[in-house]
Amino acid sequence: LAALRETAVSVLRGNDLGDITRPSPTLYPHQWLWDSCFIAIGLRHLDPQRAAAEILSLLRGQWPSGMIPHVIFAETTDFYHAGPQRWRCDRVTTTAGGAQSTGVTQPPMIAEAAVRVGEMMTDSARAAFYRQLYPGLLRFHQWLYTERDPDDDGLVSLVHSWESGMDNTPTWMEITRPAAPLAVRALRRINGDDALDALRRDSKEVPPDERLTSGDLFTLYRIVRELRGAHYDFREIRRTIVPLVQDVAFNAILIRANEHLTAIAAEIGEVIPAGLRRSMRRSREAIGQLVVDGVYYSRDFRTRTLLRHETIAGLLPLYAGVVPEDRVDGMVKTLTSPRYCARFGVASVPLDDPAFLPRCYWQGPVWVNMNWLIADGLERYGRLDAADDLRRNTVDVIAASGAMYEYYSPLDGSGAGSNRFSWTAALLLDLLA
Ligand code: DGY
Repeated sequence: LAALRETAVSVLRGNDLGDITRPSPTLYPHQWLWDSCFIAIGLRHLDPQRAAAEILSLLRGQWPSGMIPHVIFAETTDFYHAGPQRWRCDRVTTTAGGAQSTGVTQPPMIAEAAVRVGEMMTDSARAAFYRQLYPGLLRFHQWLYTERDPDDDGLVSLVHSWESGMDNTPTWMEITRPAAPLAVRALRRINGDDALDALRRDSKEVPPDERLTSGDLFTLYRIVRELRGAHYDFREIRRTIVPLVQDVAFNAILIRANEHLTAIAAEIGEVIPAGLRRSMRRSREAIGQLVVDGVYYSRDFRTRTLLRHETIAGLLPLYAGVVPEDRVDGMVKTLTSPRYCARFGVASVPLDDPAFLPRCYWQGPVWVNMNWLIADGLERYGRLDAADDLRRNTVDVIAASGAMYEYYSPLDGSGAGSNRFSWTAALLLDLLA
């Protein structure tokens, strides 16, 4: 394990760009929101100040509205397939630090990461860190509700699968594919994926069958075009064909982040504004509307119908701590069953799902960050054996390949995607600490 730890440290060092860490040297050369949070959770074991800088640097990308974008572009000429020219956000806004960014957000893991980093600091360093972070973080949480929960449902809506972080998860692709305009669908039908394949670069870095199909990728680009046309403004976006999803994993992470934000505020003598406190309470109640027969699903914002495709996203209410006690054992049984765990778990899509592909991105592989979140949830519910087993299993899968892969096959543990992936390295350090 000492050698594995060394590999993890070297991956993080190799991806370190100063005060941000890129997720991987090839596929992802910029700063990603939730990646930086998981990265900070690992970096805290090496250098808490550097970990704090990783989190604070996210504020450079903050929009005047309060949104913190999913990607903040670094000063690099390295190729990225969805760079600033695809978004053209500089036409609608500026960011706090002048950096270019995308026009959507990502799971709000910032408060969790901040608290974890804070645990490693002296009281005074932590207070100083929290004071720097708090105003921007508060505005981000306020924005999530004011912009993305306009009908006061208690659940925030996402406007792109990239916001969920689980790009090609079946739930999202099922609602996004039909929403893609005819032209994209016709193109996919006529050309299959072949002609489109020639246009992409991400699938040249890793085998194409480990990434989205080109048809799906171009559909996601098309949604970006719609968002751009709607100036990234939810009131305008509502009037377009863009799918709007009350994503269960995102809302679960938000609920947990709300708790951490409240703790951060208390520690530095700040008071969370009443409006946000009310929204926080509503979220905890509203997530209960997403469950049927013990399974949590995402919901279509427009029709308020549940998107009944079972995936790993539905396990995150455990992490949020919103699952009624009498439902917990059922969920533990599900996630430890052969449907989610073959040799290695937890599969991102159940193995018996027709969409399951063991090495294809969010369509089946095991992701270290998901295991970390679920294990935390299990611990929170006092299911300590299950939490330990999952953590051990996660270290085993990384150890079996010996490399910090982006994701792993649940069937044989083989690594896929990038093999120098920062959050795998960072969370391994945390699991071994
Ligand atoms: C990508 O570039 O494929 C990312 O997953 C989008 O966030």
